[in-house]
Amino acid sequence: MIKYITACAVALFLFSNVSAQNKNEAALQVIISNIIKKMTLEEKIAMLHGNALFSSAGVKRLGIPELTCDDGPLGVREEIKRFDWNSANWTTDSATFLPNGSAIAATWNPDMANKYGVVIGQEANARKKNVMLSPAFNICRMPLNGRTYEYYSEDPYLNGRLAVQAVKGIQSQHVAACIKHFAANNQEVNRSNINEEIDERALREIYLPAFKAAIQEGNAYTIMSAYNKVNGYWCSENDFLLNKILKKEWGFKGAVISDWGGVHHTVEAANNGLDIEMGSSGSYDQWYFADPLLTAVKAGQVSEKTIDDKLRRILWVMYHTSMSDHHPEGSIATVAHGKAAYDIASESVVLLKNDAHLLPLTTKVKSIAVIGDNSIRTFASGGYGAGVKAKYEITALAGIRSRFGQTADIKFVQGYKANYLANRMDEQNPGSDKPDQTLIDQAVSLAKKSDVTILCIGSNREYESEGHDRKTLALPFGEQALVNAVTAVNPNTIIVIMAGAPYDLNEIKKSNHTIIWSWFNGSEAGNALADVLKGVINPSGKMPFTFPVSLNDSPAFALNSYPGENLNTTYKEGILVGYRWYDTKNIEPLYCFGYGLSYTNFAYTNLLIDKKNYKLNDNIAVAVKVKNTGSYAGKEVVQLYIKKVNSSILRADKELKAFKKIAIAPGKTAVVSTNIKVSDLAYFDEKLHKWVVEPGEYKIMAASSSKDIRKVTSFYVR
Ligand code: BGC
Repeated sequence: MIKYITACAVALFLFSNVSAQNKNEAALQVIISNIIKKMTLEEKIAMLHGNALFSSAGVKRLGIPELTCDDGPLGVREEIKRFDWNSANWTTDSATFLPNGSAIAATWNPDMANKYGVVIGQEANARKKNVMLSPAFNICRMPLNGRTYEYYSEDPYLNGRLAVQAVKGIQSQHVAACIKHFAANNQEVNRSNINEEIDERALREIYLPAFKAAIQEGNAYTIMSAYNKVNGYWCSENDFLLNKILKKEWGFKGAVISDWGGVHHTVEAANNGLDIEMGSSGSYDQWYFADPLLTAVKAGQVSEKTIDDKLRRILWVMYHTSMSDHHPEGSIATVAHGKAAYDIASESVVLLKNDAHLLPLTTKVKSIAVIGDNSIRTFASGGYGAGVKAKYEITALAGIRSRFGQTADIKFVQGYKANYLANRMDEQNPGSDKPDQTLIDQAVSLAKKSDVTILCIGSNREYESEGHDRKTLALPFGEQALVNAVTAVNPNTIIVIMAGAPYDLNEIKKSNHTIIWSWFNGSEAGNALADVLKGVINPSGKMPFTFPVSLNDSPAFALNSYPGENLNTTYKEGILVGYRWYDTKNIEPLYCFGYGLSYTNFAYTNLLIDKKNYKLNDNIAVAVKVKNTGSYAGKEVVQLYIKKVNSSILRADKELKAFKKIAIAPGKTAVVSTNIKVSDLAYFDEKLHKWVVEPGEYKIMAASSSKDIRKVTSFYVR
């Protein structure tokens, strides 16, 4: 009893008087050690596994609360029941639907990723969630991956810059980000048991850098291990990834959380770096990190020191989140959050073609035909963990009505049926690629009598989803037939594609003069799109991944390494992922990485660097002048790529090393300046097992896209 009272008193003292935020890390570690000393082995084990679908236990007598978490990347998921996946039917959990991952990446604006994070953090607090299972930023290796829309881009540097800011935004609200999925969750087919053979150079140069940045620069408190195996070991028990790289090399202080149901063994996972086991169903006591872990500790297979290290990590996360003194109340679906969603969406829209200068639309347009299922479809729900119960979502039709309704007569027809359900097998989704002639006829007759047709096609949250990869790049639902029929009768047709991953746009690119790419673009998607159509917003999004002309051009298909054989796939392309592959192999893409037009034009001059010769520890100061030569204010993403001239080893033809998005008024010139560290020019030498900067000549390219190089200069590393 005395022991109990003392423990309570100590806990009370610790939790009420000690401001963890104001203590330095060393003091915090002492506090944590003292708590751990007071815990029984059973209490410790209870904190290492789920006690419900989205929480793990605390220790009541010591004042340690449960650790609560929630999905996910597109907003804070609706409340589900504690022990099953059905809705808890709350009326207070409607959230802001934020633009999907590839939309955020298309902004090329880390401030937008930060805005996203702040909204997620504030809404998580309002829902009393301590850990948000977000952001998700696996590399887009393979265009058909069902989760491409959740993730960012094909480039490790772009991913890293965005991930750091998303994490900082979330954690600014004393909510832990859980960055995911570590590592290389690049396909959904066989995701739970595929073994990916990835050479260390590709891991280090392509698949890991954004995680490293999110941890070392973003200070991410938690990370989710992926379902798949990497080089023979499940990611939840991968000593190389979790112990050696993440914890030892990168100095990660937080907790590794398994993906739901992604644990396979007790002892291996416990010893190889996993801290918390989460899953999709009970019996919670029987999970690998529950009774079996207790038994393994008692049998000496897992040391109590290892268990204490996990506790230390979890408590460290708690002291920065739920147990932090300044934990904010949070707020949900506020006007400010809607504004953030609008800002992100409006910077993400990509103008692919405007050859007839049809856009922006003028008030001379008196009748608009809005055609296509995607004009009235909402995209907040679907995709399992990435679904959001949106407080509101402005569809394309609603946005167009609100922006053009005063000046034009707006009529809608559906154009195609989107018959596809993500949770069904392909055979159970028959005919989802077939056009519907009756709907096409209606569309044609409306298009004929309208000044302008806005044709909203693409995919949706059933067609692109966790749990399956797409089978082809083709546009679904017979959309191409609809496009052809409508374009034939109305020359003023604008194609708007809403999707989160590359598609086959060959025919549209050839035959249509006006093409816009929107995404699953959040609560304000329709308003942002309509403002782009109207010219209130000048589009500034750039493609975060390459659109291949044909699937066989893409590396995983060209090298026949997807989806693998006998649950094994070798990443034969190594470091040549995305534009690194297309450019090095001289394969012309349909739309290249970094591509996107504006209503204005930008001219690049005076690319200058501060020296001709650099040493290993130097920074390269780069400046380039960019002039807005058109008549609209606009934003340009200046991309800086590096190329090693005469490299002694295989290098990509170019690698993105810096970028900056900048707003420039018409007729004005901006100087865009940045620094690139010479050490960032390194490649990973597998034999020497370290990063090496090869001496010699390098080119630096200032570009408007990966294929639109505007200025080049060279320098030497001596
Ligand atoms: C997904 C995770 C998600 C988790 C919880 C898993 O199936 O891979 O991204 O956070 O479920 O919903």
